[in-house]
Amino acid sequence: MMRSLPYFCRGEVVRGFGRGSKELGIPTANFPASVVEHLPADISTGIYYGWASLGNGDVHKMVMSIGWNPYFKNTKKSMETHVIHKFKEDFYGATLSVVLVGYIRPEKNYQSLDALIAAIKSDIEEAERRLDLPDHQKLKQDNFFRECANPVVNGH
Ligand SMILES: Cc1cc2nc3c(=O)[nH]c(=O)nc-3n(C[C@H](O)[C@H](O)[C@H](O)COP(=O)(O)O)c2cc1C
Repeated sequence: MMRSLPYFCRGEVVRGFGRGSKELGIPTANFPASVVEHLPADISTGIYYGWASLGNGDVHKMVMSIGWNPYFKNTKKSMETHVIHKFKEDFYGATLSVVLVGYIRPEKNYQSLDALIAAIKSDIEEAERRLDLPDHQKLKQDNFFRECANPVVNGH
């Protein structure tokens, strides 16, 4: 279906709408418009799972939302990555490298913020499970994650 998967991309972490940590308790890193506009046509909006690293750092599991966040009615298409790892600091300005490995579900509108949070938590569990499959582990080792030109800024 999505011939472009696995899809590798990289970009600077820019400020989103700032709701991720505060309202949801699930921090997300936003890519700039230039990265969003480069998405191949067959990568539809929705929720994806894959691998991510910051600068030359370790590769972690991630979930990504691509689209307009119907719950918040955004007008600008975004790519928001939640890296499944506890970081001490935020990473605005750092280079985020990701590979989108698979698709989980379409974006939805929810009746409440709690329902949205519950959906994202179940996406995270789904991503954790699927990424343990041997084929997906191989992508974690991809050279793409070792060739980042810009080391993490932000004091790491
Ligand atoms: C795994 C994941 C799934 C998401 N699913 C939805 C969704 O179904 N509907 C929606 O409106 N937003 C969804 N979001 C987007 C959140 O609403 C978004 O991350 C939040 O608004 C924070 O954005 P901000 O950092 O730009 O403020 C999802 C985000 C993630 C990381």
